[in-house]
Amino acid sequence: MKVIVTGSYDESCAVVAEMIKDLVVSKPNAKLGLATGGTPVPIYKKLIAMNEAGEVDFSAVHTVNLDEYCGIPGTHDQSYRYFMNTNLFDHINIDKANTFVASGMGDFEANAAELEAKVYEGGVADLQLLGIGNNGHIAFNEASDHLISKAHIETLTESTINANARFFEKKEDVPTKAITMGMGDILAAKKVVLVATGLAKVPAIKGLIMDDVITTQNPSTMLKMHTDAVVVIDKELADAVGYKA
Ligand code: F6R
Repeated sequence: MKVIVTGSYDESCAVVAEMIKDLVVSKPNAKLGLATGGTPVPIYKKLIAMNEAGEVDFSAVHTVNLDEYCGIPGTHDQSYRYFMNTNLFDHINIDKANTFVASGMGDFEANAAELEAKVYEGGVADLQLLGIGNNGHIAFNEASDHLISKAHIETLTESTINANARFFEKKEDVPTKAITMGMGDILAAKKVVLVATGLAKVPAIKGLIMDDVITTQNPSTMLKMHTDAVVVIDKELADAVGYKA
């Protein structure tokens, strides 16, 4: 696993936006695995600016998102489909027909099966972007005594519901279940890039980069088995976990 330490969160986002741009420039029909949450928002802003400046063309790119809440439609302002449209897709020259976010409505099991198929359709992702939960979750694979390899329905933990409550009017509005890629789906990507910032992520990042232990209690540690995994953190977080480059 490669760890990149930057001077600031903004710099981390610039580094990752450059990685994505370089990939798409060298492979215009690249397949990207995308994430939602607070962390990637500045990355998407930078990609929008690069697209506007004519530095990168998304017209042949395909995307698949990690996850979606169960029980809210794609038109709901907290759905991950809505997030992707408003934070990225509406502002770049991507063909929305080439973007996939699982549906959170209807038959959840069938929607998970559809996500599983999309992960592999036309080949696996060239690059999978990841954030990380305070408890080490990636996508919505929550810390547990076991993890699941394929796309499935996950019951969100109290920690995740509390962390995501900031995006909703009240905590009770946070959906309690989500459709998520499984661990095998994430590890199948050719390259995995995880970005983290903020002191709430210290325990999870410590487990990820400070030793060689792999544990289902910190799902992100599975990335240690990937041959091209990159973790991008800022100096504040690196110092807080005691990481020395
Ligand atoms: C989002 C996702 C989640 C987030 C994680 C961190 O698609 O899969 O695993 O990456 O919850 O969220 P933020 O970035 O809001 O701290």
